[in-house]
Amino acid sequence: MKHIAILGFGVVGGGCAELIKNNQKELSALIGEEVTVKRILDLRDFPDSPFADRITHDFNDILNDKEISVVAEVMGGSHPAYEFTVALLKAKKSVVTSNKEVVANYGDEFLALARENGVSYRFEASVGGGIPIIEPIISCVRQNKISEVRGILNGTTNYILTEMFDYGKSFEKALEGAQKNGYCEKNPDADILGLDACRKIVILYALVTGKLISPDSVYTEGITRIRTQDVRAAENAGLSIKLVGRCINTEKCAYVMVAPFMLGNFTPLSFVKGVYNAVEVIGDPIGNVMFYGRGAGADATSSAVVADVIHSICGSGIKPPLFTKENCASDISVLKFKNYIATDGNTEKIISLIGNQTFLNSSECAFITEELSEEDAEKIISKLSESGINVLSRIRVL
Ligand code: HSE
Repeated sequence: MKHIAILGFGVVGGGCAELIKNNQKELSALIGEEVTVKRILDLRDFPDSPFADRITHDFNDILNDKEISVVAEVMGGSHPAYEFTVALLKAKKSVVTSNKEVVANYGDEFLALARENGVSYRFEASVGGGIPIIEPIISCVRQNKISEVRGILNGTTNYILTEMFDYGKSFEKALEGAQKNGYCEKNPDADILGLDACRKIVILYALVTGKLISPDSVYTEGITRIRTQDVRAAENAGLSIKLVGRCINTEKCAYVMVAPFMLGNFTPLSFVKGVYNAVEVIGDPIGNVMFYGRGAGADATSSAVVADVIHSICGSGIKPPLFTKENCASDISVLKFKNYIATDGNTEKIISLIGNQTFLNSSECAFITEELSEEDAEKIISKLSESGINVLSRIRVL
């Protein structure tokens, strides 16, 4: 019998305990013996849960239990997840996690500690929920020259945007639905402001380059400024709007960013709807590869956590490579994008100020620019504002 422990009995922790209980036959076939959840750490009691007798409020019950060899940290947040992970790795227990915040901030330390102590640190569930993405990137595509990794990395925001586009829901109603379905972070600001997607693209960037950059230094824009008028203008133009995390890898350096992008309706990412996530890797000679699946929720995420539990117990799978810490992301202002710009101006005045543009069928005076550097896009926006035209929205086009 193999014994594991779970830190955090929330949506993902509950999903992991259920999966291990319900899929015992499948797990035993893979591991060669039964697996049981011996302890679950949480501040709360769960008297009505079938796991009520495993709940502990004392971390030491897990740390000092010699029978427990693998711990799933699914509590979220940086602290005390950081302190618990360090203590467990030093105690020679393998740790698996769905906690992207702690991986993006401290993954370099954990991987080094795991190696020093002869155990493993795995984080398949930290990006893309149930999509196998970390291990395939490590083991199947890194021999390519990777020019870009980009993806829809947050289920909550993709669900909200889909509800706004396809069902005409308001932002607030759509967010309520995401919360009810258990997709959001404890504080949904982390989802809608793009921070969650930022942590995930930082992790993907680290897998591709070996460098873990500080998430605070990454250009990050969420979806809170997207208005119904933008949604309708995009629809009329055969475009959709998605929150995309991008890591653009050049010979000299890599650029990382998270922002809403307008996408053509035939691009692979535009087909990704609802809570689904997708990660597109573009490399030479492989070309474009896309990984797709449910990006949030108890079921999908627990599948990825338990995959890591199995690898940790069996010593199978490829361990993530070491990361080196890098404090600052490269400045994205040199990158060039087309831009959707919505204004309260009129066509003639705009043409007279900044030349002809591709005007859209919209209730506002909205257009798409040619490819511009971030600096030039800002200059155009300033020029319009100085001439009394309010810029109501700007969204980059992929
Ligand atoms: N809040 C996250 C999301 C959960 O919506 O994608 C999965 O990481």
